[in-house]
Amino acid sequence: MTTFSFDGEEVTAEPGQSVGAALLAAGYRSWRTTRHGGAPRGLFCGIGVCFDCLVVVNGRPGLRACLTEVRDGDVVSSQEGAGRDHLAC
Ligand code: FES
Repeated sequence: MTTFSFDGEEVTAEPGQSVGAALLAAGYRSWRTTRHGGAPRGLFCGIGVCFDCLVVVNGRPGLRACLTEVRDGDVVSSQEGAGRDHLAC
């Protein structure tokens, strides 16, 4: 099993699973809020087209959870809007 953290909580995943699939399997349905209105978003298309599933992985914002393979020890966090607050200057 692969173990990673999501917003400070430990989550397990199958090796090779995407971040989005692992979060869904763990019971999470949303991990991003929209720039306007702060509406919750999670997986929608599941194939990398809609960009609804953006997430922060190891400090890098804007990754599509449905296409990003989770790795052991990853630190995953929710993303607000465009995720600019997570960008290192
Ligand atoms: S769910 Fe649509 S891009 Fe990830």
